[in-house]
Parts: sequence; C-alpha cells; structure tokens
Amino acid sequence: MITTDLTLIKQQLEQGEVVGIPTETVYGIAANIFDEQAIDKIFSTKKRPNSNPLIVHVKSIEQAKSLVLDFPKKAELLASRFWPGPLTLILPKNKLVSDKVSSNQPTVAIRIPNHEKALELLNMLDFPIAAPSANPYNRISPTRSSHVENYFPQMAILEGGHCTAGVESTILSFEGDNVLLLRHGAISIEEIEAVVGRISDRTAFDSTHISPGRSKKHYSPLCDLIISYEPLFVLSAIQHKKVGMLWFNQVKIDSPKVSVNKVLAPSGTFKEAAANMYDSLHQLEKEGVDLIIVERLPNHGLGRTINDRFERAAAK
Ligand code: TXA
Ligand code: MG
Repeated sequence: MITTDLTLIKQQLEQGEVVGIPTETVYGIAANIFDEQAIDKIFSTKKRPNSNPLIVHVKSIEQAKSLVLDFPKKAELLASRFWPGPLTLILPKNKLVSDKVSSNQPTVAIRIPNHEKALELLNMLDFPIAAPSANPYNRISPTRSSHVENYFPQMAILEGGHCTAGVESTILSFEGDNVLLLRHGAISIEEIEAVVGRISDRTAFDSTHISPGRSKKHYSPLCDLIISYEPLFVLSAIQHKKVGMLWFNQVKIDSPKVSVNKVLAPSGTFKEAAANMYDSLHQLEKEGVDLIIVERLPNHGLGRTINDRFERAAAK
C-alpha cells in the first residue's frame, strides 16, 4: 500500500512494523533501531544475511553523535559539508546501537537523508531508523514507490516521488587520519577529496571484513547484462532473442537485433545518468528482454559509481 499519510507510517514504526520510505538516493525498508524484533523483520523481509549491517538514518548531527563513541575531525568536516545528503559515515558505535543493527561490528553506519518527507518523518519520531535499500537481497534497487510495491506488496510505503540522486550513498570509514572509501556512491571521490584531501579507495578489496555488503553480485536484473565501451561489438557477437540497449547520451544504432533502446542521460550529464540508472533497469526488465547491453561511461566522477553498479549487476 502506497500512502502519503506520515502519521500512519509513524504509527507503523512505533508498533514495530517495517515500512518503505523515500530518500534522495533509493527507497529504504525502515524500522526503529531500538526495536530488535523490528530489525529482525528487515533482514527476513529482504532475505538479507544477518552478517550484512544496516545504515542508521538520523535527523541531525546531534542525534548521530548520540550513537557513537567518537566523531573524528574529518568526519565532522564531511558531515558539515554533505549532510543532509548521500554520504554514509562508519563510526565507532556506543552501547545504544544493538549488535543486530551493526551485525556484530564495533561500528555503525550513519547518515542524514536529504529528502523532505524522510526528514519530516524523522522529526516526528523519537528514535532513529535503520534502513537498507528496499529490494530483495541482490536485486535492482528501488527509486520509485511502485518499485517497492512490486517487491513487497504487503508493506506500507511512504510516497516520495522519484529519487533525485537515484544511486546509493557513498560510504566512508576512518582509520587514524586516513579516510577510506568503502562504496562508490552519489557523491564522487573528487567531491570528497576537495574537502579532506586524498582518500584511499578500498572498494576493490575483498571487502567481506570491511563492508560486508559489498558482494560482487548485486543490483541485478533477472536477465543477462553486459557492460562495455563497445556495445556495438557486443551486439554483433551475441545470440540473445530480445535485446535492450542502454546508451549513455544517445542511441548509436537502430538495428533489427535490438528490441528496446534507452538513453540514460539525454543532457549528457553523469548526474542525470545516475538518476535514471535503476529506473531504466526496472523498465527493461518489465519489457521482458533477455539481455541488457550497457554502454560504459567514462571512468571519473559519478561515471565511476554508475560503472560500479552495472559491473555488479553484470556479475554472475
Ligand atoms: O543510499 C543509501 O545508503 C541507502 C538509503 C536507503 O539510505 N541505503 C543503503 O543501504 O544502500 P544498504 O543496506 O543497501 O547498504 C548498506 C551498506 C552495506 O554494503 C553494508 O555492508 C554497509 O553499508 N555497512 C553498514 N554498516 C557498516 C559497518 N558498520 N561497517 C562497514 N560497512 C557497513
Ligand atoms: Mg542495497
């Protein structure tokens, strides 16, 4: 059920239910972080392994500080520059944060979402909410309330329009004076480095220890997906019956071999491409194609984040 009724969503959360909520990045499945049974429901609803910790959404820096033992100087700088916004900080948790939320890690992932409805809701509640993306484990992330409803028809979902960023938050952790990048996201490395100087990219690590959810396969459509700088070459070599092409800023071939052509960013900006990325995958999946060929973007700025998501969507 999709609703605009904030009071109903608030009541559901207070009663220990999980609900769908909008953020600027993707929709989340939310629950009260202080209600362990509600937290269990997030994991069971998503079929997510208990070893993969959740992101906590707070209404203010003060509320974030109430959950951690330490807030390093560089974290302060980044929070004051990017919050509310698509930046998640991994910080040492205090005892208010249960091991269920953090999957037994000594740290907790925190952000303030930059979405009017999410902030309105957080300000009505006297607890923070944990919210992973509102997709079954490893499936395409949802950027519209209808995507969440398709996955979880029984759930109450707060309507919040199409997510403006359209890709998950960037995740950073801190090690001494070093800032580590654990997940590419809606804020580019270049933007982060403009605030804190050079950071270490740990996204390519076997991250089972660092960021447990960074499995190679993720964000996947049900059909095959190939990402390439040479989509036309790929097209000439494949035998699939119903092919969807996902171009960056213009269609480069109109061939009888292609059933659907889609353009991520007619304006040619990475920001527009990010905003349309998951939505385009949902649409192509709905069209029933058996292969999606994606044109790889230049590997800088948000182009890197978008390539990262398509690479994981392509992984078997
Ligand atoms: O944009 C977003 O971040 C969205 C919206 C809903 O806020 N949320 C989201 O959550 O993407 P999720 O659960 O799909 O991804 C959270 C990632 C996972 O890869 C998880 O392993 C990592 O954050 N994570 C959470 N807590 C962590 C911790 N204490 N240490 C390391 N990684 C952590
Ligand atoms: Mg996710």
